[in-house]
Amino acid sequence: MSKEITLNDVKENDEFKQLINASNNSLKVLGYTEHGLRHVGYVSKTTANILSTLGFPQRTVELGAIAGWIHDIGNAINRKHHGLTGSLLAYDILVRMGMDAGEVALIISAIGNHEEETGTPVNEVAAALILADKSDAHRSRVRRETADRKDIHDRVNLSIKKNYLAIDKNKKTIRLVIQMDNTSATMEYLQIYLSRMVLSEKAAAFLGYWFELVINGNVINRRKPVASTNVHPKAGETEVSEE
Ligand SMILES: [Fe+2]
Ligand SMILES: [Fe+2]
Repeated sequence: MSKEITLNDVKENDEFKQLINASNNSLKVLGYTEHGLRHVGYVSKTTANILSTLGFPQRTVELGAIAGWIHDIGNAINRKHHGLTGSLLAYDILVRMGMDAGEVALIISAIGNHEEETGTPVNEVAAALILADKSDAHRSRVRRETADRKDIHDRVNLSIKKNYLAIDKNKKTIRLVIQMDNTSATMEYLQIYLSRMVLSEKAAAFLGYWFELVINGNVINRRKPVASTNVHPKAGETEVSEE
């Protein structure tokens, strides 16, 4: 008999807690930006906000929140193929928790497709998870203890003062708006995140939307005039990213 497993049940589960911790610790040793409760919290809330703004059923929104919370647990095993290993770890734990097998299948396909190396937006939860995860670049992700301006990831993240994802249902756009200072440059952002942005374009397209990347007021990925370089969401837009 399956149970309706909630985000709270997943947050309270000790196996998930330990895997999130171990992932964040391993990535710290490897020199990656923060992947702990702040990152998974952001991805969980933002995935849910995208799905609810687009009008998906409440249970799909909850499954998106759960997928966001546990999407990076594979890093506890290894950074390489962590989407794939994470989905196998999640399968085992969610089944033992009593989650419906169809819901588990949806969640693991989203987790297994969130990385740019092997991922494809194969369903709405996978698409929302990709958009949420890839939008999380910000100065708050740089680990203060190890911050190094000679490292391009730290430099790019340190330079991002403001970052939000907003959906305009009328214009069918999902915009990622980034304000960078001159600690880094647009070119450097693209050097390290281009493949993520290409995957975000595919994810938005799966949902029937255009993905627009706007850095310092310039649309980077398509020829469309920007109405304003305002760093706040425009009229008609719903901000979906959430700290
Ligand atoms: Fe990841
Ligand atoms: Fe992530």
